[in-house]
Amino acid sequence: MSNERIGILGSGDVGQALGSGFARHGWDVKLGTRSPETLRQWADETDSTVSVGSFAAAAAHCDFVVLAVLGEAAADVLDLVGAETFADKLVLDTTNPLDFSGGMPPHLLFGGTDSLGERVQARIPDARVVKCFNTVSNAQMIDSVFQEETPPMMICGDDADAKERTEAILVELGWPGALDVGDITSARYLEALVPLWVRVGAEFDTWSHAFAVAR
Ligand SMILES: NC(=O)c1ccc[n+]([C@@H]2O[C@H](COP(=O)([O-])OP(=O)(O)OC[C@H]3O[C@@H](n4cnc5c(N)ncnc54)[C@H](OP(=O)(O)O)[C@@H]3O)[C@@H](O)[C@H]2O)c1
Repeated sequence: MSNERIGILGSGDVGQALGSGFARHGWDVKLGTRSPETLRQWADETDSTVSVGSFAAAAAHCDFVVLAVLGEAAADVLDLVGAETFADKLVLDTTNPLDFSGGMPPHLLFGGTDSLGERVQARIPDARVVKCFNTVSNAQMIDSVFQEETPPMMICGDDADAKERTEAILVELGWPGALDVGDITSARYLEALVPLWVRVGAEFDTWSHAFAVAR
């Protein structure tokens, strides 16, 4: 059991899956949202180590933060908290710049030469951002079960120590490890996998899949 503190910015499927999952592994979780009162019952029913608060309260809770908000809202949420709150913190960025305005499957709002991962790192320059969890379903983020061998989680980021700590956390959460695919510019390609992930899901009627690198 960890007994460490984590702040999760986001109360959607990802925020709740990670909140309950980290709590199950012994973490002291504070979930951040614009409306904490609507999440209190969920927190009470989830675990005694889970609390809810504002985005700022969750970010200030610890030195380890997960960003799990709508891609389009990520910049606003970081600004609301203030870049200084994130200084020296490990920030796991789960977000994807998805555009659902044209229905399913979603398109990327931007990509190719840009990514949300890079924009997040630029917005909180003193944080140590690691792109993580963005290529799997929320249901598979913690204690995941695959029909085939569980692949390592694909991650990227600029800070080697942050990626090492991320891998240790992933192992604690049931992953075999991390596959480090490079600096934060690799977020361009991890985010681009997501529309493909949706198309593969629709084609094969599976929503519990993940991509693996075969060598
Ligand atoms: N769903 C998945 O399985 C999955 C898997 C991998 C990655 N992701 C990525 O993870 C992120 C979270 O996904 P999700 O499915 O949990 O839910 P989501 O609907 O994408 O995001 C919900 C969160 O975004 C916040 N939000 C939405 N609009 C906002 C605004 N205008 N200003 C401030 N905050 C706003 C909400 O705030 P409140 O709490 O205040 O309502 C809530 O906390 C997304 O970027 C998504 O692409 C999702």
